[in-house]
Amino acid sequence: MRSLYCGQLNESHIDQEIELAGWVHRRRDHGGVIFIDLRDREGIAQVVFDPDLPDVFATAESVRNEFVLHIKGKVRPRPEGTENNDLPSGQVEILGKELTVLNRSETPPFMLDIEDDEVGEEHRLKYRYVDLRRPAMYQRLKFRSEITRALRYYLDERGFLDIETPMLTKATPEGARDYLVPSRTHQGSFFALPQSPQIFKQLLMVSGVDRYYQIVRCFRDEDLRADRQPEFTQLDIETSFMNEEEIMTLMEGMIREMFARVLEEQLPDPFPRIAYAEAMQRYGSDKPDLRIPLELVEVADLMQSVEFKVFSGPANDEGSRVTALRVPQGGKISRKEIDDYTKFVGIYGAKGLAYIKVNEIARGVEGLQSPILKFLPDEVAMNIMQRVGAEDGDLVFFGADKAKVVNEALGALRVKLGHDLGMVEKGWRPLWVVDFPMFEWDEKDGRYYSLHHPFTSPAEADLDKLESDPGSCLSRAYDMVLNGTEVGGGSMRIYREQVQERVFRALGISDEEAQEKFGFLLEALKHGCPPHGGLAFGLDRLVMLMTGAQSIRDVMAFPKTQSAACLLTDAPSQVSPAQLVELGIRVAKPQKEEK
Ligand code: AMO
Ligand code: AMP
Repeated sequence: MRSLYCGQLNESHIDQEIELAGWVHRRRDHGGVIFIDLRDREGIAQVVFDPDLPDVFATAESVRNEFVLHIKGKVRPRPEGTENNDLPSGQVEILGKELTVLNRSETPPFMLDIEDDEVGEEHRLKYRYVDLRRPAMYQRLKFRSEITRALRYYLDERGFLDIETPMLTKATPEGARDYLVPSRTHQGSFFALPQSPQIFKQLLMVSGVDRYYQIVRCFRDEDLRADRQPEFTQLDIETSFMNEEEIMTLMEGMIREMFARVLEEQLPDPFPRIAYAEAMQRYGSDKPDLRIPLELVEVADLMQSVEFKVFSGPANDEGSRVTALRVPQGGKISRKEIDDYTKFVGIYGAKGLAYIKVNEIARGVEGLQSPILKFLPDEVAMNIMQRVGAEDGDLVFFGADKAKVVNEALGALRVKLGHDLGMVEKGWRPLWVVDFPMFEWDEKDGRYYSLHHPFTSPAEADLDKLESDPGSCLSRAYDMVLNGTEVGGGSMRIYREQVQERVFRALGISDEEAQEKFGFLLEALKHGCPPHGGLAFGLDRLVMLMTGAQSIRDVMAFPKTQSAACLLTDAPSQVSPAQLVELGIRVAKPQKEEK
């Protein structure tokens, strides 16, 4: 039906008779001549119709934006002075000889040359098929496809098999709520949609598959954010007989090669590594954005005997932290802005945000300015300045509270300051975070939770402490972080049945519950399970970062809203009473009137 894409047209086609098919991007009448910008996924070509051919001209007059056309014509140079250097096809045009309207279109819901944020996202999601015609959206889909091709290429070359795992399955605990699917044939029973293929990929290792991967949909019913969707895609990977060193090397090699192929960017070799504890100390986060040159500095030891309880309290408490965050040339931050930052850290539970302005360090405390100086002995104030390396014109913020509050508050402040003050360095800063704790204590529930998932292997050296001191056990998990986003995570797995049982117990899962939920896994571990490990990348997040999109919704063809609904299809929706009867389900809340 066509000789080439509109966007491929260029001067090499001059004098050729060609055929194009696409959408009317714009139609202009110019004193007896009609110009149609015809658009397809690759770009735009200008077609000219003149009145010499009255029938064709009349049809051209009748078309409107987004009509679907087929045209035949001859390529010619544009008249001098009318070239458009912004378009690849801008030096040429087609003199239209035949024109067929393949389909008409309603007036489009929004113009197609808008930026992402020029029209409400709800509108874009409702008319997603029109939204995806916008070049920026198409480019992201295309780019995503290039990324998956490069990833597959790397894994295929190294003997990884692409194997599918069930969607209708049993819950795997990745920490979110499950999406459930009622069974008709087993009334009252439910499948869970997988939060990840975790257990199945481990079973594939028991099967001797050795190297598995899958680009797979995962489902998690959790609070959504810009980088979280209820269904999202993982590049899921598992290998046998490799240790974490080998797995991390292989995986960062894949990311490096993919970046080189699709972005022509060279990532560091090897990726830097940082222990979880150090990441929390220096950045207040287990996914530090290394592009921001700001760090938290511990000052608790200097504050232990000051009168100011706000500082001395946490300084003498084991579970607390007192940290300073030096902002080079932060002295220009206004009072009002400091108040705003104080409110900002309040979101994370911080009760205040003390600060010291450094006017002239050579004058000692005289050269400092702060409402808290009166509470601090001069010597302490100067020791702090020395420790953080304060220079004239700086501002030093302080956080004192439970470690969790300080980490979250100052960790977030560090990132916000970096952006607000234009301190985010250009480029890509990947890293591995390693040596995670096995468990995290939940104050509210009064029990431990896995920091990763319950199949993560404890560090060999900490095996003895699983019962006596679970809080101090490290795991063999690793996360890949890129520019402040966790793009992937994985671990060496537990492959010995007894260790798995002990970890379940440490998590407060009774032996009966373990049998009921994971009996099949425990059974499999008895049947010759090899040592194995792997990881999963959040594909949507990777693509979001690499395309510079603001949200993972912009790199998914048909995403859901923040409230987990699909505006295009109106899902989720009510079902017929007959369907409910078939499933043996009664809805507690009366159904709303159908819209
Ligand atoms: P994890 O839960 O860390 O690990 O998930 C792996 C990666 O998936 C991405 N991700 C998400 N992306 C979009 N929306 C979400 N709701 C969402 N949740 C997670 C993140 C994350 O790094 N089975 C383990 C992996 C393993 O151990 O091999 C797992 O699922 O980028
Ligand atoms: P206050 O004496 O409560 O008025 O606090 C004096 C200064 O200390 C103010 O700048 C507060 O913002 C700050 N501040 C109060 N609590 C904390 C805290 N937990 N961490 C850091 N700074 C705080």
